[in-house]
Amino acid sequence: MHASDVADDLVEVLFTEEQIQARVAELALEIERDYEDKDLVLVGVLRGAVMIMADLARALNKHVEMDWMAVSSYGSGTKSSGVVRILKDLDADIAGRHVLIVDEIIDTGLTLSWLTSNLGSRGPASVEIATLLRKPEALQMPVKPRYVGWDIPNEFVVGYGLDYRERYRNMRDIGTLAPAVYS
Ligand code: IMP
Ligand code: MG
Repeated sequence: MHASDVADDLVEVLFTEEQIQARVAELALEIERDYEDKDLVLVGVLRGAVMIMADLARALNKHVEMDWMAVSSYGSGTKSSGVVRILKDLDADIAGRHVLIVDEIIDTGLTLSWLTSNLGSRGPASVEIATLLRKPEALQMPVKPRYVGWDIPNEFVVGYGLDYRERYRNMRDIGTLAPAVYS
């Protein structure tokens, strides 16, 4: 689905499919350079990171393992509470390996702050974060992603894995949701 298919639901298109693919390719080049000759495990955070994971992994010209975690943060609607529960854990043993958490957005940072320390306690060689989007104004925890696609204003965005009530995840572009949709 394209942003043009749901134009009435969006205030604006922030990033087109082409812009996203170009930025993901740039991030992949940086990651290739930084992890040359290193054993790399990509950890995707379900379900939002599915698109960025698929595109980033394919843009990398090196062997990587792809693994997944599902976590739920107790909270209501568009706010997260910071209490995190593992719904699906990794299949891989990450001890001694280089881990790159792949996520689509850092909002408050609560989820990734918790996940970084959880994975860090399993004895990995390193744990870093790659995120396509970050909302600096919303950040509540000291999360420092090594790779960031773009910083965006503190607005609710959808598309490319990002949902509102499970919709818009399959939109190819990223756009700001019109308040009329959620009020
Ligand atoms: P956190 O607040 O950084 O812990 O973000 C938790 C999760 O909330 C993200 O991984 C997204 O799944 C979701 N989220 C945060 N901001 C947005 C948004 O603007 N649109 C859609 N989902 C969001
Ligand atoms: Mg997510």
